[in-house]
Amino acid sequence: MNTQSFQINRRRFLKATAAISAATGVPAWFLEQDRAQAAAPKPLGPNDKPGIALVGCGGQGRGDCGAARRFGEVIAVCDVDQSHADSAAQQFKSGEKVPAVYTDFRKLMERDDVHVIVTGTPDHWHTLVNLLAVKTGKDVYSEKPLTLCIDEGKRLVKAVRENQRILQVGSQQRSDAKFRLACELVRNGRIGKLQHMIVGLPTGPKGGPFQSIPIPESLNWDFYLGQAPKMDYVGEVEIKKAPDGTETKNYRAKCAHWDFRWWYCFSGGQMTDWGAHHNDIAQWGNGTERSGPVEIDGKSLSEMTPGGFTAAANYRINMKYANGVTMTIVDENTGTDRNVVGNANRTPNGIQFLGSDGWVFVTRGSIKASKPELLDTPLPEDRPVKLYKSSDHMGNFFDCVRSRKDPVCDVEIGHRSISVAHLGVISVRMNQPLKWNPDTEQFTGANAAAANQWIVREQRKPYDYSFIA
Ligand SMILES: NC(=O)c1ccc[n+]([C@@H]2O[C@H](COP(=O)([O-])OP(=O)(O)OC[C@H]3O[C@@H](n4cnc5c(N)ncnc54)[C@H](O)[C@@H]3O)[C@@H](O)[C@H]2O)c1
Repeated sequence: MNTQSFQINRRRFLKATAAISAATGVPAWFLEQDRAQAAAPKPLGPNDKPGIALVGCGGQGRGDCGAARRFGEVIAVCDVDQSHADSAAQQFKSGEKVPAVYTDFRKLMERDDVHVIVTGTPDHWHTLVNLLAVKTGKDVYSEKPLTLCIDEGKRLVKAVRENQRILQVGSQQRSDAKFRLACELVRNGRIGKLQHMIVGLPTGPKGGPFQSIPIPESLNWDFYLGQAPKMDYVGEVEIKKAPDGTETKNYRAKCAHWDFRWWYCFSGGQMTDWGAHHNDIAQWGNGTERSGPVEIDGKSLSEMTPGGFTAAANYRINMKYANGVTMTIVDENTGTDRNVVGNANRTPNGIQFLGSDGWVFVTRGSIKASKPELLDTPLPEDRPVKLYKSSDHMGNFFDCVRSRKDPVCDVEIGHRSISVAHLGVISVRMNQPLKWNPDTEQFTGANAAAANQWIVREQRKPYDYSFIA
């Protein structure tokens, strides 16, 4: 590069850096250090275009698949709702080539030309899809929350490692410089000794009571339910009256397609939905990303509506780690941890790290600190803790598919991050304080026997592990 074009590029970079810095609060020194370390992207060779298949063609799965197609060819899509699969096939066609459509992921996994699975199903299907994928030699980009219960995570970790597969969990905050910066500041002592973390999550909805509504023709409801107990297809009915008195009914499902996440049988509510993201960052900042808390004390703080959503809407969970750091996970409207950032009436959505010498708060879109110099003073280049750097979550996954190295949110990290949320949900549902051994991944103490039963969930047949045997 000649001197002139170097200077133009440098000027452009400084301008772009200043804009990013002003918009997000990430200081320019951190962006500059990142750029200095950036490796040149690896060129794609002719054999370097993996075949991609999407399982679960809803909003997020399609978003992920759109990001994945930059690195390969989408050759198959699968959904238990035929209409979702059909429209995804149209979305991901390339010229005249339309991806093959499946409604049973087991058939799709038989294909040798599928190298990568993007899993965008609801939470209760992630594990069976991912297990079969790695057993049939595919690499996986799986949406968070990685699992429905802790036992699923243990099985998945084992299978990924035994089959030497790459699995990236869709916790994309790990590939966002703000979150990495916050964790590096904390891990390098910028706020002194870390003492407490406050994880603010959205409040869950309290819909209901709902009524049975007709199942759409395109949807295989029994397959959708999968391992979850049998339940009616429920939702809301809106009756419209025309001027001539004729009535039409509009049905809005409240059990499937997006709203599954508010039902305990499919998910864990906001505790596992947003909790998967923010607990992951708390674990990263605390240096416990391959471990977990030792004490958990959770409470649901409001009644749910009978016949409505079943995952707690208002909750507060206090946890303690073996290193003495404590953590509060609370929904925004319940939170009383309002002393640190922003609106005095809510706990803000994000993660606050509180240390002996100040605090750092990070959320999507901004990073703040108790004193400007905590952010503005560069960390030394040779700082003791430099965290895994990724600035493109899907790109990092495909880099690892090529290099066979672990991605930024590998299977153990994803399992441990969501275990924090599962532990919170268990304590809330048992309404008891619990003790946990992160090494053995078992509860200990007085109520251990009862608590250990919650590590596993009963799977409705035929959708148990034999379904993918
Ligand atoms: N990373 C993020 O920021 C982020 C954001 C949104 C959602 N998500 C996660 O993505 C996942 C999907 O969420 P969504 O909002 O797209 O839900 P969605 O309801 O829009 O889509 C889920 C799709 O999976 C299909 N499906 C259900 N069971 C299936 C099966 N056995 N095989 C194939 N398809 C099946 C459904 O019919 C539906 O089309 C969830 O786990 C959610 O937590 C992540």
